[in-house]
Amino acid sequence: MAAADPSGDPPAPAAGHVRIYEVGPRDGLQNEAGSIAIEQKLEFLARLANAGLREIEATSFVSPKAIPQLADADELMDRLDRAPDVRYPVLVPNERGMARAEASGVDAIAVFTAASDAFTKANIGMTVDESLATFGPIVARAKDKGWWVRGYVSTAFGCPYTGRVEPSRAADVGRRLLDLGVNEVSFGDTIGVAVPRQVSELTGLAVADGIALDRLAYHFHDTRGTALANVMAGLGGGVRCFDAATGGTGGCPYAPGAAGNLATEDLVYLLDGLGYEHGVRLEAVLDAARFITAALGKPLSTKVGQAGGWDPKTGQPTGRI
Ligand code: HMG
Ligand code: MG
Repeated sequence: MAAADPSGDPPAPAAGHVRIYEVGPRDGLQNEAGSIAIEQKLEFLARLANAGLREIEATSFVSPKAIPQLADADELMDRLDRAPDVRYPVLVPNERGMARAEASGVDAIAVFTAASDAFTKANIGMTVDESLATFGPIVARAKDKGWWVRGYVSTAFGCPYTGRVEPSRAADVGRRLLDLGVNEVSFGDTIGVAVPRQVSELTGLAVADGIALDRLAYHFHDTRGTALANVMAGLGGGVRCFDAATGGTGGCPYAPGAAGNLATEDLVYLLDGLGYEHGVRLEAVLDAARFITAALGKPLSTKVGQAGGWDPKTGQPTGRI
């Protein structure tokens, strides 16, 4: 449910429910060079849960050589004080990652491939076909355990190595992930090149390929400032799950040119204005955004992070300090 409006104004007409899938602790941090203390990561996770986020991608069980920043994943999951109503998925690239996930008591994982072989090779050392063959038994085992499983299709709109990606190719990889048994497919605009028309096109193709709208999510990086416009296109096509990172952090070391994710605070502001229910409190997201950017030694440079929210009754910004 949307938080009550403290101004006493009538709530915006309900436009339905949207899931906000938080990727700040994983995607947001994975590309950061400076080491962040595990206590700061745990505090960030706690603040995100406190903000009402109910799906928080916590970390990755990947090679510490590939992603040094998340080398503390086992200890992090061990020490994480899990809120009972929050799902904390972790990234799993292979059997070794799955074994670590099994040892850490998680109940949600995300496997990740892409629409282009060049990117998948650079990212996880496999072609797309090889990655799907690797994920088959992992997804089956996770489903046997009753876990929730997401499958990512990165470079769904463009590849940093080979350029334009046909939307039919992205939809096909998404369909094959669904055939493996994942609960949901998230199409990633890894390097932030998509524009709304392409999002509408991919949504249509994915649905035509048998990916139901309630199993489809979008993961936009805001490299070129089109992320919120792309969310609008997703909403217009009936998609109701969007990934975002509090503080607008993020990027992938194997995707040259990838910049931050769509900021959770910018997404929350948009959804509030449109009347969607999502259960996330903007001011608490801003608090978490300030915390993590301070921990990274960076300014909070997202739009709503700088301007704050806005109270139409007073005409004043909210949530700023
Ligand atoms: P590799 O070098 O091809 O594989 O890496 P390997 O099997 O030869 O293993 C190399 C070393 O890693 C060995 O150690 C293994 O034991 C170890 P060594 O003998 O050299 O000491 N190893 C592992 N260690 C811990 N956990 C594991 C694991 N597996 C092997 N799971 C591998 C292949 C997949 C491991 C590597 O390429 C990798 O970890 N890649 C992950 C890259 C990554 O995390 N990228 C970012 C996430 S994807 C993303 O950001 C996009 C997304 O946000 C959506 C979007 O934006 O589009 C999701
Ligand atoms: Mg990403």
